[in-house]
Amino acid sequence: MLQASNSNLNNIAVIGLAPMGKNLAKNIASRGFKVSVYNRSHEKTDELLTENQENIIGFYDYKELVTSLEMPRKIIVMVKSGQPVDDFIDDIVPFMDSGDILIDCGNSNYKDTERRQKKLETVNKINTKAIHFIGCGVSGGWKGALNGPSIMPGGQVEAVEVIMPILKAIAAKDFNNSPCVTNVGLSGAGHFVKTVHNGIEYAIMQGIAEIYDILRQYSGGNQVLIEKAFSELNTGEIQSYLLDVTIEALQKEDENGLMLERVDFKAGAKGTGAWTVESALELGVAIPSIAASVMARIMSNHNQFFTVNKIDRIIHQDTNQEPQMPNNQYLTNALEAIYLTAYLQGLDLINKANEEYKWNINLDEVIRIWQGGCIIRSKMLVKLSELIKNGNSELLTEEIKKARSGLLECYDEIVQNLPSSVPYLSVFTSALDYCSVLLADKLPTNMTQLQRNIFGDHEIIIR
Ligand code: 6PG
Repeated sequence: MLQASNSNLNNIAVIGLAPMGKNLAKNIASRGFKVSVYNRSHEKTDELLTENQENIIGFYDYKELVTSLEMPRKIIVMVKSGQPVDDFIDDIVPFMDSGDILIDCGNSNYKDTERRQKKLETVNKINTKAIHFIGCGVSGGWKGALNGPSIMPGGQVEAVEVIMPILKAIAAKDFNNSPCVTNVGLSGAGHFVKTVHNGIEYAIMQGIAEIYDILRQYSGGNQVLIEKAFSELNTGEIQSYLLDVTIEALQKEDENGLMLERVDFKAGAKGTGAWTVESALELGVAIPSIAASVMARIMSNHNQFFTVNKIDRIIHQDTNQEPQMPNNQYLTNALEAIYLTAYLQGLDLINKANEEYKWNINLDEVIRIWQGGCIIRSKMLVKLSELIKNGNSELLTEEIKKARSGLLECYDEIVQNLPSSVPYLSVFTSALDYCSVLLADKLPTNMTQLQRNIFGDHEIIIR
C-alpha cells in the first residue's frame, strides 16, 4: 500500500460531502492518506467526523483547509455540476498557489472543464498563478466511491501524474487485478469519456428494460419468473453490473411487497445522456441506441395515457395457467447485440472526438478501466478490447452479423408471438438498424440525395 507522508500536513482534500464525496473521502482515508474535508453546510462535515474514521480531518473554512495541505496541494471537488463548480473555484483559488491541483470528480460537461482549464492554467495579467484543473470522471455510484470506482482523469499530463498514486490506491481492479484508472487524455478528455460512459449506460439500461417488457408479457407479470429469466441472462458475455441491478430491482420490496410494478413510469435524467447525443451530432457520429434511450426517458414523461395505464398495468395472473416463458437463448442473443452495439457506438464517438480534438486517448485503456467499479462493467469488455486492439474489421463484421441475426431471430420467434400488446422496443430496433446499416450493400438514401438535388440543387455523385 502507498504510504502517506509523515509531515503534519494532509495529503489531499475533498470538498462536497454528499454521498459521492463523503465515500470517496472515506475510501482515500482508508488507504492511509490524510484527507482534509469540507462541506458548505457544516452539518455534513460534522456528520462525517462523528464516524471517527482515521485520517479524516474536518474544516469549516477554505483558508484553513488549504493551509492544511502538503504542496502541491491536491483538492478534489465533488459538488453538483454547473455553476456550483464555478462558485467553488472562485472561492478557493485566492488561497491556492501556482502548481496546485484542482480535481473535479463530478459529472461535468467537458466543455465547462476546458473553459475552467483555460481560465485557471493560463497565467496572464488577471490570473497571476497557474492552477492545474483536472476533469475526472468517477463511476460506480456511492458504493463504488467507497469500495473502488472506475476513475477517468484528463488534463495536463504532469498534473494527472501527481495525483495518480492516490487514484491507483482507491480505484477498483480490472480483470487482471490492475487499478481501473488511466491518464485518459488531454484537456476535457476525462469528462468526455465519462459522459459517453453514461450514454452507453442509458442505452444498456433501456435495452434491459425492453427485454423486461417482453418477459413481463410472457410471464403475465410474474416477477419470480422474470427474475429467473434475468438470472439466466446474467451469464457469459453479458454478465454485468446492470443485470445485477436489474435482478435487485425485481426483488426489491417495501412494506407492501414487491415494488417494481408500483414504481411510476417517469424516468429521470441529469443530462449526461443528452450531452452524449449533442456531441455525436456535433461530430457526425451515429449513436442510434444511445439517442433512442435518451428519447425513451423523455417520452416516459410525456405519455398522456399514463393515468389509464396505471390501472391497467397491475397484471392479474391466471393462477390456473402456468405461463409459457420464451426460450431464453433468443433473449440472450438479442441482449448481447444490444450491449455490443451500445459499446461500439460509444467507442466510435470517443474515437472521433479524439481524432478531432487530439486528446491522445488510448481506447484500449478506456475499455480496460471500465472492467471494474463502473456502472457499465461487463464480461463483454474483454471481447471488445480484442476487436479494437486488432483493428480486425473481418472479426468486427462477423460480430455485427451475429448481433443482427440475434436481434432478428428474437424478433421473429419471441416478439412476434407476444400474447398481447407490442412492447416498447426503441433500443432493440435501433441496435438492429445500426447493424443493418453497417452491413448493407444498399441504402435508401440515394432517394434522399436526389430529392435534395431536385429542390435544393445539391450536388449528387453518379456511380
Ligand atoms: C456512474 C453513473 C452516475 C449516474 C449518472 C447518470 O457512473 O456512477 O453514471 O454518474 O448514474 O449521473 O445519471 P442519470 O441517470 O440521473 O442521468
